[in-house]
Order: sequence, then structure tokens, then C-alpha cells
Amino acid sequence: MTTFTKLASGETPLIEVDANKRLSKIDPMTYGGFTEHMGRCIYGGIYEPGSPLSDSRGFRKDVLEALRELDIPVVRYPGGNFVATYHWQDGIGPQDQRPKRPELAWLGVETNRFGTDEFMQWLDALGEGKDQRVEPYICLNFGTGTLDEALAWVEYCNGTRDTHYANLRRANGHPEPYRVKYWALGNECWGPWQVEQMTKEDYAKKAVQWAKALRLLDPDICLILCGQDGTASWDHYVLQECISWVDMHSIHIYTASNQHMKNVTAPLAAERGIQITASLIDLARIEKGVSPTKPPVKICFDEWNVWDPERAPGDKGAEEMYTLSDALAVAVWLNVFVRQSRYIGMANIAQTVNVISPLMTSKGGIIKQSTWWPLWLFSRYMRGWTVASHVRSGTYDGETQPTWLQGTLGEGAPLLDVSATVNDDGYVNLAVVNSSETDDFSVDVKGVGKDVLVYTVSGPQVGSINAEGKEEVSLSEKKWNGEGTYTFAKHTFTLLRWKS
Ligand code: AHR
Repeated sequence: MTTFTKLASGETPLIEVDANKRLSKIDPMTYGGFTEHMGRCIYGGIYEPGSPLSDSRGFRKDVLEALRELDIPVVRYPGGNFVATYHWQDGIGPQDQRPKRPELAWLGVETNRFGTDEFMQWLDALGEGKDQRVEPYICLNFGTGTLDEALAWVEYCNGTRDTHYANLRRANGHPEPYRVKYWALGNECWGPWQVEQMTKEDYAKKAVQWAKALRLLDPDICLILCGQDGTASWDHYVLQECISWVDMHSIHIYTASNQHMKNVTAPLAAERGIQITASLIDLARIEKGVSPTKPPVKICFDEWNVWDPERAPGDKGAEEMYTLSDALAVAVWLNVFVRQSRYIGMANIAQTVNVISPLMTSKGGIIKQSTWWPLWLFSRYMRGWTVASHVRSGTYDGETQPTWLQGTLGEGAPLLDVSATVNDDGYVNLAVVNSSETDDFSVDVKGVGKDVLVYTVSGPQVGSINAEGKEEVSLSEKKWNGEGTYTFAKHTFTLLRWKS
């Protein structure tokens, strides 16, 4: 069975970039994070009181320092599945008086030592030295939580008047409101693993009622609807019922395969998911007669990453060990977000530390996994505007993960996966994943400038990893004068950058 198609003889690989053709603005929120009370994300990840590596508040300084490099604009909290049995009031007030609770998502015990106030302080610490603060994004408990509790949480965070929960925040030492803009109406409420799993009908009814009340309390909040993966009848139904009440529609996808080509092409299923969701949003607007002046409902891709829950089970902390193949898959994921930036209002890699994360901690320090490097490069450079790019390369035509993806790829998945941006500083950035395990490609890069900065993420083989005492996947830098062809080596991610 053919799985690869080469270019016809006489044809050479080609990438064209047209920096003058701006397609859409990339929302800075695309590079968001996510911290859940799960495994070692919070405890032992961002928060470890008593560790010599932590500050007086218990925040791991090495983690903060590393994450500042990513310039994260927003962090989602406190779950994830965890939130379905979380009562936020357990996590405020004097720490030694907070109750320990059984936790039903990952079957642990929640000490509540870290709660809303600690999260807000941690975001302040993360944002130190930045022009803009790191935005909090809170997910509401649609499982065992009540609307009263949700309203109280919004009041605690945002209340400015002389009211009970606003005063409670002040009494806890926080006179200023936290101004939390982003609130999610539940997490994966459709999932059989969810405490209080719901039907789409029940969910939509409840989401509208909660949205109505939450907006009465705070008209400035941005409400995020709980979607599935963008291709489900759940997405269709809840958008139809709730389109007038929400600002964004959330979708989640994790991709993974132990087979390299399936692994690196799997994020293209997310690209399809985004396109389908965007159509469902338009359809709901049309069918429900939404006013044309209502701003577009954007997609909030608030959980994405490479993750195989069988390889790294959630109740064991989901500590995935990422390979070079996974790093290339993450680069394809990020290319997808750039290519589809028109529809993306926010995206959050799941998760930010230790749990399916590019950044791992040990008692003695941190490890940057293979997936750290594409995230770092994109977050640093792939901002501003998506610009037109075109690729001609050989393709992968074999089986995919998920299987339906193969039938939607048309000519197949290009072995060179590409996106391009122009930033406000006038730099053009071209991100290229060469997913071939065997072939280097010499490419005619049309539209490239002179004095090109080249960043390459590579390793000896697609199974290479970074772990304690072993750094096989690394970032290298060099310069290219932009003349002739550029050779993208096999299984690499390359970012080319030049002044337009
Ligand atoms: O990110 C890990 C888990 O994956 C989240 O808690 C849940 O929302 C998803 O299923």
C-alpha cells in the first residue's frame, strides 16, 4: 500500500510566502496555559512550599522563570475534570483551616492549600516584568456546583460594591477586584467520565440560565460554552441553543500515535475540527437570526496537546515523556492555530507543568521536554498576522489517527507542514515542519529575505527525548543569506525569520 507520494520528476519542493497578503490577526491568547488540580501540576509543580526552589509564598521560582519565557497571556484554572466536584470556597481563607476533600476526577485528596487567591497571586508573579498582566480564566463547576456558588465566585473575584463575597475577598487581604473576564460554563460536560455528565439538551438549558444570571451580576464577563471536539452533534446542538448568550465556544482535542507519521499528521484533525466548528457557529448565527452587530463567537481551544491516556493515565498524573516526534506534532498543532487564526479567540496547551506538559519539575530543578522548543519558538515569534503561504512537497497518504482524517485530506498531508506570519515589528516568520523520517528536502523558498535567522529543533531520531541527564532534542541557531535553496533536514522543525 502506497503511503507516500513523491513530487513528479522535474518538480522541486517549493514554499512561497507573501508577507503582503495578511489573512487574519493572530489573537495573543492563542498561547494560553492551563493549570489543573491534577497530578503534580499545582502541588509540586507551580506550588511547593518549603522547597529551597520556592519563594516565601511557596511558588517555584524556577518554574516561574521558565514560564515567563513563554510570555503566556492567560491561564485556565482549576480544571479540567477536577472542577466538576470543586467547591471554590474550600480554597479561600486561612490555609490551615481549609478542608481536605476526596477528589473524584483523579481519585486523589485535595488539600485546598492552593485556591483562588493563591492562583491570582501566582498569575501576578508570572506577569512580573510584562506590560500586560496574565489573564485568569476560571472554569465553573457544572457538576456538583450550583448557580449560587458560581455567582458567589464571580462576586468574590470581581465585586466592587459593599456586598458579602466582595467583602470576603477584602477580608482575605485582597482589596482590589481580580477583574476575571473569562469564565467557562463547565468542562467536558458531555464526557462519560464526568461527575454529573449531561445530555446536550440539559446542558444547553442550564448554560443559558447560568449565562443570564452571571451577566446580570457582571455584564463585562466573557462566557465560554462547553463544546466537544467541534465535530459532534453536541457542538451543533449547544451552539444552536446558546449562540446568543456566549462569547466563545470551547473545544478539546488530544492527539497521539506510537506510529510517527500518524502522530505528526493527527493535529490536522484539529484543523478540520476548527473549520467545522466555525461553520457550526455561522450556521447557528444564521438560523437563530443573531444580530450582525454581535461580535463573532470565536473558538476557545482550551485543551490541546499530544496525549495518549493509556501511555500516561490521568489518575497516575499523566506525566507523558515526549519524543522528537511529539515535538514535531506540537509544531504542526501550532501551525494549525496560525493557519486558522481567523477563528481562534484563545487556545490553552494542556497543561502548563508536569501534567502532559513541556515543562517538568523534580525536587532539584526543571526539565524542558522536547515539546518545549516548538512552543517556545511559536510563542516568541509566531505572532501578529497570519500571511499567505503555499507549499509544494511530497505527501503522506497512509492511515491516520483518527482514521476519518485520511478521507478528508484530499491530496494527502504535505511532508512539509507550513505557516507564516508577519509581526508588528516587520519581521516575517516561516514555520516549517519536515515530518519525513528519512528525507531531507532542498526547498526553493520564494519571498524569503536576506539575513535570515534560522532556528532548528532536532534530534538524532524521532524517538529522541529529553530527560534528567539526557538532552537529545535541542534548539540550534544559525544564519542563512537567503540565496539558493534551503535544506530542511529530516524530522526537524525550523523557523526562518527575516525583516520584510
Ligand atoms: O487535561 C487533562 C484532562 O483532559 C482534563 O481534566 C479534562 O478536561 C480532559 O479530559
